[in-house]
Formats: sequence, C-alpha cells, structure tokens
Amino acid sequence: MLLGFNVLRSIIVSTSVFEVMSENMVGLWEHSLGAAMASGTIARMLHFKDAEEYAVAGLLHDLGKVVATVQLPDLKPDIERVVAERDCFYLEAEREVLGFGHDRINAWLADHWKLPANIKEGLSYHHKPHLAQLYPEMACVVHLGDFLVRSFEYGFSGDVGVTYLQPEALKILKIRPADFEKLLDELSGQLVELADLRFT
Ligand SMILES: [Fe+2]
Ligand SMILES: [Fe+2]
Repeated sequence: MLLGFNVLRSIIVSTSVFEVMSENMVGLWEHSLGAAMASGTIARMLHFKDAEEYAVAGLLHDLGKVVATVQLPDLKPDIERVVAERDCFYLEAEREVLGFGHDRINAWLADHWKLPANIKEGLSYHHKPHLAQLYPEMACVVHLGDFLVRSFEYGFSGDVGVTYLQPEALKILKIRPADFEKLLDELSGQLVELADLRFT
C-alpha cells in the first residue's frame, strides 16, 4: 500500500538490510515504518506528485544506522553509551565514535545502490533539510515525518528525547497551523493501525 512499482528496485536491493532490521532492531524497524507512513501522508496532503517516493525515503532514512551496526557491531555500545552519558542525539554520538553520522552513510548507500537523486537527498539531508540543494521538499518531508513519528513515540530511533524540528522545514513546505493539525489527526489514526499489525 505504501509503495509504488517505480520504487521496487529500492526495496529489492535493501531486502537483506530489512531482514537484519526487522529481526534485530525492532524499534528502528517500527520507527522506519512509521516515518514511511508519515512522509507519504505529508506528501499526499501537500499534493506532491509521486507521494510513494516520499514514503520510500521515509522508510530508508535511518538505514545508515543499520549498516553501521552490521559492519561495525563493536562500536554500537560505544555510540549508545555516549548518547546516555551526554544526553545527546544518536547522530552526534555517531559522529564522535565513528567520525561520521548515518546521514553520510546514507549518501554513500544511495550512490552505491544508484537510488534516484530525490531519494538520495531525502536520506542524506533528513537532519538538515534546509541545506538540501536539489530536492528540499523531499528532505523537509522526511525530516518532518521523522520528527512526527518520534513525537508519537512510535518505535525507537536510538534517540531518547524528541528531536529538534527545523522551523525552516515548515516554511519550505508551506505548512499552515491548520494543515499541521489535520496531519496530526490523520497520523495518529494511521499509527494506531500500524501498531495493530504484526511485522515480526
Ligand atoms: Fe536520522
Ligand atoms: Fe529517524
């Protein structure tokens, strides 16, 4: 339901990553599904063309975390320790422990998998959407989807607190307070439905 045919390739290439995530990182899997749903809903509400592509970017937006965990498993406890001790974001802890964050890994993955440029930008700029060059709407939608799914405390992204919402993202998307309210209503219902499904 979330995904269209033209994005099938993105999913096929990442099937093994989804297996790892749905088996060993259930909280992040739920966070990713929630972000996919939220990003698709935002794109539809704003009448963006190809809303399912926004859902795909939402689904893949934290994939760099999975790849880092699979490739560098010994460093994951260090990242988590930094998050707990400093009360900082997972992204900041990754940068300290690994030297780069999952947003950077996402950009490498997108190149490696030859994902479309708009999806690449959504993945690599979801923490700083206002800096996206080519597809700022994509980056802003994923940023907002990520923020909302955390606000609803659906799944677990690795962060303990709710992340910062870049006010520029709402401006770029031209979201008015009334839209925001509608979005929250719609999303709360969808996340309840999503929680009722069993994925594992
Ligand atoms: Fe992220
Ligand atoms: Fe996230």
